[in-house]
Amino acid sequence: MSCFTFEDYYHNEVELSFTDHPYSSSPKHVWIICRFKGQWLLTEHPRRGIEFPGGKVEEGETAEIAAVREVYEETGATVDELYYLGQYRVNGKGGTIIKNVYFATIEKISLKAHYFETNGPLLKKNLPASIKNDHKYSFMMKDQVLERSLAYMLKEGITQ
Ligand code: GTP
Repeated sequence: MSCFTFEDYYHNEVELSFTDHPYSSSPKHVWIICRFKGQWLLTEHPRRGIEFPGGKVEEGETAEIAAVREVYEETGATVDELYYLGQYRVNGKGGTIIKNVYFATIEKISLKAHYFETNGPLLKKNLPASIKNDHKYSFMMKDQVLERSLAYMLKEGITQ
């Protein structure tokens, strides 16, 4: 099955597919599952909580360039390799957003005085099994996008 449909944390409909840009060739959002030396690299958003880094593609950027930039701005990390995993579309009450999901290996993490929109990097050996009920985690970590992306990486043998 190549397309999954489910509801997000706020009951918006989400369509997720691990095929080549099924919903848009120029998505405006990116989300990056990051790995550094055997640990997950996340960031803490002051309102949403703990999540993988991500954000909006700026004018004139490709989605890949935006992914590398967002990881650096939110965590201070330099991306080594970036792998496209899939794309999802959230059909929200206020509109539709389309987001590319990537997996990134991290080369190094530099400490910064200021992190754009976040409280900086957070390394975790394991993601808790109870993320869905954990108020410290962002809503973005609580729908099927994360679990299906991790399962896809495992199936495809993408380095974890
Ligand atoms: P910013 O404050 O600039 O980020 O603007 P915004 O709140 O309008 O956010 P954005 O344009 O990124 O997203 C619009 C809406 O889409 C948000 O209110 C979110 O609820 C929703 N959204 C954004 N990213 C995701 C996501 O990864 N998953 C889900 N399920 N919803 C998302």
